Amino acid sequence: GITRHYTFNVQLHNVTRLCKTKTILTVNGKFPGAPVVAREGDRVVINVTNHVSNNVSFHWHGIRQLLSGWADGPAYVTQCPIQTGQSYAYNFSITGQRGTLWWHAHISWLRATLHGPLIILPFKNTSYPFPKPHKEVPIIFGEWFNADTEAVISQALKTGGGPNVSDAYTINGLPGPLYNCSANETFKLRVRPGKTYLLRMINADLNDELFFKISNHTFTVVEADAVYVKPFETDIIVIAPGQTTNVLLKTKTNPSATTFYMAASPYFTGQGTFDNTTVAGILQYKLPHNHKTPLQIPPLPPFNATSVVANFSSKFRSLASPQFPANVPQSVDRKFFFTVGLGSNPCPKNQTCQGPNGSMFAASMNNVSFTNPNTVALLQTYFSGRNNGVYTTDFPASPLEPFNYTGMPPNNTRVSNGTKTVVLPFNATVEVVLQDTSILGAESHPLHLHGYNFFVVGQGFGNFDPQKDPAKFNLVDPVERNTVGVPSGGWAAIRFRADNPGVWFMHCHFEVHLSWGLKMAWIVLDGELPGQRLPPPPADLPAC
Ligand code: C2O
Repeated sequence: GITRHYTFNVQLHNVTRLCKTKTILTVNGKFPGAPVVAREGDRVVINVTNHVSNNVSFHWHGIRQLLSGWADGPAYVTQCPIQTGQSYAYNFSITGQRGTLWWHAHISWLRATLHGPLIILPFKNTSYPFPKPHKEVPIIFGEWFNADTEAVISQALKTGGGPNVSDAYTINGLPGPLYNCSANETFKLRVRPGKTYLLRMINADLNDELFFKISNHTFTVVEADAVYVKPFETDIIVIAPGQTTNVLLKTKTNPSATTFYMAASPYFTGQGTFDNTTVAGILQYKLPHNHKTPLQIPPLPPFNATSVVANFSSKFRSLASPQFPANVPQSVDRKFFFTVGLGSNPCPKNQTCQGPNGSMFAASMNNVSFTNPNTVALLQTYFSGRNNGVYTTDFPASPLEPFNYTGMPPNNTRVSNGTKTVVLPFNATVEVVLQDTSILGAESHPLHLHGYNFFVVGQGFGNFDPQKDPAKFNLVDPVERNTVGVPSGGWAAIRFRADNPGVWFMHCHFEVHLSWGLKMAWIVLDGELPGQRLPPPPADLPAC
């Protein structure tokens, strides 16, 4: 491979959406950010310089970062943030991966505007395991807030209530014609008849899972989270924040119209308010004549259509071919049962809180609401061998006391704060059952693991049954990904091999749940051999 150099200048830029001009943080003045493109086997060096007053850090979502945890990016987990005027060069190689991933800021809610595609092409002279597309197009879903997103999250943390919701969804940064004052800001995908397009879809929303359709067209799904899957046909895509999905779109040879609408709307099962709007874009055929047919918004499911989500996610299977095998751990060294969901804490004195019964919302895994350190990064602390009480290694392997996770009334009200980690020996095989819990109702959670892909060996509704459910696990061709939607009122079981030493964040990719503490960290120890040890930090690693 070769080394690809990128320069990221974090700078302010004025952007107008919905008739309001707002100053936002951007990379190189672009919103959304420009793609980082590399090939499998390449080294990528991205030199980031911070020209704004906020602290920043960047994450290369889905990149394995084999032996390069210092470049992973979550603030106070693998690095201290890059302060105003400072630079840091993220330096990593791409090993054993090809497909669509993305990059985003990983501090507070700055990823709202600091994000872009990360595209890994296959090795030179290697083809896709599907017909070569005529063209490849990134499709990034985002959320637009008229308000400043930093003000939105700090208000949510102060009151312990839900944050203000976004004012629009966007496709490649554009809200589209269904919003007031937005008709000129519409994404147009221009296509020729009878061709195949590869759509590289990324959900960069802060807090919303989405349904997506194109009128009168279907898709062939070929990849999830930069891993090929057995192709399947669908007329709808479901995509959660953090997830990426590659689909083939075959255009019609003789379309009945020149233009068709594409549209996305939220899937939401939580309580309270959410952005229940629809973003539309246009699929535009290049044809000699204009067929005048009225545009129709494709019929999207109702916002709470959990069965559509379950049906869609059940279709994913690893390719599991000789060239792209599914190395599913067949036996397990360490088993964990993690409850994931919202809970509540008593409201601090002299404060008004908006959680259930006047309490303060918290989010937790196994009753632990995780607190990030703020004067040091966990990876630095771990690597130095001098902990000084920054973290403990007693993250519970199961909830403190079992309860009816998916039943009502809620029982997840005993949340404690802590910076707790799990220590794994090098190369251990790990199984984690992620069990959703109810608070005011059930809610889905897109759980993301850094530094690894995992196999989703099973999922179901209700409480996980340790007697019956494991017998139904798929250990042959389960989908391999980095972000799994834990079903609303259900569970998902994942397996991975801890072959990448370092400190690895795992968290809900709903930004509000991340802020409320739905996160934890794994410490994976070095192995015995030289290629199994985390090298020392680069000299320019930021200090706190
Ligand atoms: Cu895409 Cu920890 O994040």
